[in-house]
Amino acid sequence: MVDLHLDVDLSDGRRRGIERALRTAVRDGRLPAGSPLPSSRVLAADLGVARGTVADAYDQLVIEGYLTTRPRGRTIVANLARPPDAAVAPAPPSRPRVDLRAGAPDLASFPTGAWSAAVRSVLRNRPGDALDYAPPRGRAELHAALVDYLARARGVVAAPEQVTICSGVDHGLGMLARALAATGRARLALEDPCLPFHRSIAAAAGSTVVPARVDHDGVDVGSIVASAAGAVVVTPARQALLGATLAPGRRGALLAWARDTGAVVIEDDYDGELRYDRQPIGALQGLDPARVVYLGTVSKSLAPGLRLAWAIVPPDLAGVVAAALGPHSPVSSLDQLVVADLVRSHAFDRHLRRVRTAYRRRRDAFVSLLATRAPRLRVEGVAAGLHALVRWPGGGATEDDVLATAAERGIGLTPLGPCWHGERRFDGLLVGYGRPPAHDVRRCFEAFAALMADVVR
Ligand SMILES: Cc1ncc(COP(=O)(O)O)c(C=O)c1O
Repeated sequence: MVDLHLDVDLSDGRRRGIERALRTAVRDGRLPAGSPLPSSRVLAADLGVARGTVADAYDQLVIEGYLTTRPRGRTIVANLARPPDAAVAPAPPSRPRVDLRAGAPDLASFPTGAWSAAVRSVLRNRPGDALDYAPPRGRAELHAALVDYLARARGVVAAPEQVTICSGVDHGLGMLARALAATGRARLALEDPCLPFHRSIAAAAGSTVVPARVDHDGVDVGSIVASAAGAVVVTPARQALLGATLAPGRRGALLAWARDTGAVVIEDDYDGELRYDRQPIGALQGLDPARVVYLGTVSKSLAPGLRLAWAIVPPDLAGVVAAALGPHSPVSSLDQLVVADLVRSHAFDRHLRRVRTAYRRRRDAFVSLLATRAPRLRVEGVAAGLHALVRWPGGGATEDDVLATAAERGIGLTPLGPCWHGERRFDGLLVGYGRPPAHDVRRCFEAFAALMADVVR
């Protein structure tokens, strides 16, 4: 089997994206004359597209002279004796050659078959309904499916009336920040470090953002108390950047603070399903459903481009949250019904079981490769999620040094620096080991290990 890395941009059509990526690879010399290509079946599976789409792209490139076919159907790169047609200009690279940025899952592992079957079923059974505006809080079918699933899988305690479908956690955060400000809780603590755009979203919604310090036991409740915030956003299952799980004692202390002061805890459970070292940790919300707003998303479990998430809101905040909603749901009605179908049929559980195993293997390969090639590194936050925090001894290379060499080598990484509210406590990189497609994981990990071995001596 042939390993092939392609920067495929599918935004302008799948077949076109594959053709463009192959032309670029041939022109750049990354695919020299005579190189065998993977079979259309293998490449289609890696890219998550239909086999016919890859076969059509191959046929087109044979016609254009980039590829040629051999007996027994093998496709290889042709010898480009003449410059290819000038009209077929290579697209500018849209992604780093080695894409290890934190944030996305392996999009090739999306359950395309189950999704397509669910779309067909929804359209067959209720075509008109599925294409109309959805109510402001979203579709009742998805509320019911999520309440059952979250009770079973995450220990969330809720009634369907408490669920609001959002177009991502970022939309949910903005909506909640506005609603909380309307109840006099405009002072909002966010973990330090946190995603920088979560700070911007909260500030744009009118919150005064204050930092809540994080250490190896998760968020430090003392710093929340000292901040005099009326609400806090936390990531208890796996701290978004440093990867710590919120320690049991701190869970209790956080909820006691919320009860004593009337504050609200927003639990961002963005990747709670992806735990590798033990059963997923139950949601904080289940311990005090009256004080905790629970946020979940399909961005890690399915795909971030779906823009589908959910907020479970305590009954006494339901009114203010409803007032922060528009006249209809911002999320496609069809997608909501499709996700409800996947959850109800347990196709979602089956998908999660499959990807969890695959990501655990990747995580193990990443950790052991770095232990051999770059033993001075510390790899943290790998008990769950899709990215690792990589740190190294101070006094030598800085985060910016590593990023500069990474950029020269076409390696995309996410720096920790911008995630601190103010002072950087230490340097680090967030390495999205879940992102590359399965066939390309080894090459990406090798490139990262070589980079770190060269820069962090
Ligand atoms: C801390 C955190 N929250 C939420 C999300 C997902 O947000 P969304 O649902 O807007 O894609 C991410 C994704 O990277 C994240 O890191």
